[in-house]
Amino acid sequence: MFKRAAAQAATRIRAPPCARGFSVSALRLANRAVVYSSPGDPTSVLSVLTYPDLPPPSPSSLNVRFICSPVNPADINVVEGIYPAKPVHTDELAQGHKLSDAVYLGGNEGLAEITEVGAGVEGFAKGDWVVMAGQQLGTWSSARSLKAADVIKVSKTVSRVNGSTLTVNPPTAYNMLHDFVDLQEGDWVLQNGANSAVGQMVIQIAAQRGFKTLNFVRNREDLETLKTQLKTLGATEVFTYDDLKERSLRDRVKQLTSGKQIQLFLNCVGGDATTQMTKLLGADAHIVSYGAMSKRPLTLPTSLFIFKNLKSHGFWQTRWYAQKTRQEREELMQKLVAMKLKEPEHEIVTIPAGDSDEQATKRVRGIIESLAQGQYGKKVLLSIEQPT
Ligand SMILES: NC(=O)c1ccc[n+]([C@@H]2O[C@H](COP(=O)([O-])OP(=O)(O)OC[C@H]3O[C@@H](n4cnc5c(N)ncnc54)[C@H](OP(=O)(O)O)[C@@H]3O)[C@@H](O)[C@H]2O)c1
Repeated sequence: MFKRAAAQAATRIRAPPCARGFSVSALRLANRAVVYSSPGDPTSVLSVLTYPDLPPPSPSSLNVRFICSPVNPADINVVEGIYPAKPVHTDELAQGHKLSDAVYLGGNEGLAEITEVGAGVEGFAKGDWVVMAGQQLGTWSSARSLKAADVIKVSKTVSRVNGSTLTVNPPTAYNMLHDFVDLQEGDWVLQNGANSAVGQMVIQIAAQRGFKTLNFVRNREDLETLKTQLKTLGATEVFTYDDLKERSLRDRVKQLTSGKQIQLFLNCVGGDATTQMTKLLGADAHIVSYGAMSKRPLTLPTSLFIFKNLKSHGFWQTRWYAQKTRQEREELMQKLVAMKLKEPEHEIVTIPAGDSDEQATKRVRGIIESLAQGQYGKKVLLSIEQPT
């Protein structure tokens, strides 16, 4: 056993990009995390940092090994420093081993397996799978020590991909479908960005509840293939934003809905097309905005507020978590697992054990660059192996 001060001096790690340099050979360099020293462009600020094996967890904590951790659009915004949620900032990735400078940890959601349970923790066992109950806990890591209060146990019947993507998109879709309008079977929901990961969850959850969905996507060469994919998931009808220019669209929609008024519009795009879409809504409808993918403002016609009593809301799953009890959060996770939702289209990208930190850093930055250029076209999940 080292005395604390000696251990700190001996195991001091310089912050990225010079993150290596443990001088005590007896320490096993067993873990890795994607970190950054200050917010900025992820393709230049993210680094992979190797750090020692985790000591046994504190009485209220658990040691976990991450299985898969997605890279969501909001995660990028957090690294850029333009998202309201704040990441973990620490100089101690493994207790007792200080870094020379504190780093931010990337990653908000993920699926992990418990490797060790703190002496005072009840209700968890080694081998259980958990998802994050807390926000921004640094899931782009191979292993972490987490407070038991910050995780929720999930059934191992969930697939690894669905488990690792359980806490952001599916609950966002579920809550938006349930918290604003008391929808009944046969009611219609309008949404844009319908092929997004959240949009696909909306389609599936709505279909399971008997709600009908009117979905809008951007036009593309293989539009018919996308329409078929979304309809296979349960979409009732799919249009493109270009269709909004056709004068006949409102009649087509009226025919489709048999004149039933649409009362819920889920918006993750903004801009002109979203403004046009509001004209498809009925009286007393609610527009719920949860994203702004077009990076354009949301403009709503005043007349809809005056004459149709339109109501406009924002939804943030992070706020939902902050306002709900642990029991409510656990119940929602259980409901979502039981729904057996189709896995989002994904690619699991491994950071191999044999990579040096420099190689792994290059790999991570390359992944983010490809994502920004739309080269993946699907959800990327990181699997970070323990370095050898
Ligand atoms: N508020 C919350 O709690 C919450 C929770 C989860 C997600 N979100 C937000 O929801 C949004 C979607 O997230 P996700 O993970 O589902 O994303 P995703 O799977 O990466 O999908 C992105 C979607 O945005 C569309 N899009 C991109 N740029 C666009 C543009 N300029 N104009 C119109 N559409 C555009 C894409 O359409 P194409 O296929 O045509 O490119 C695609 O449908 C993000 O803004 C995310 O931050 C919010």
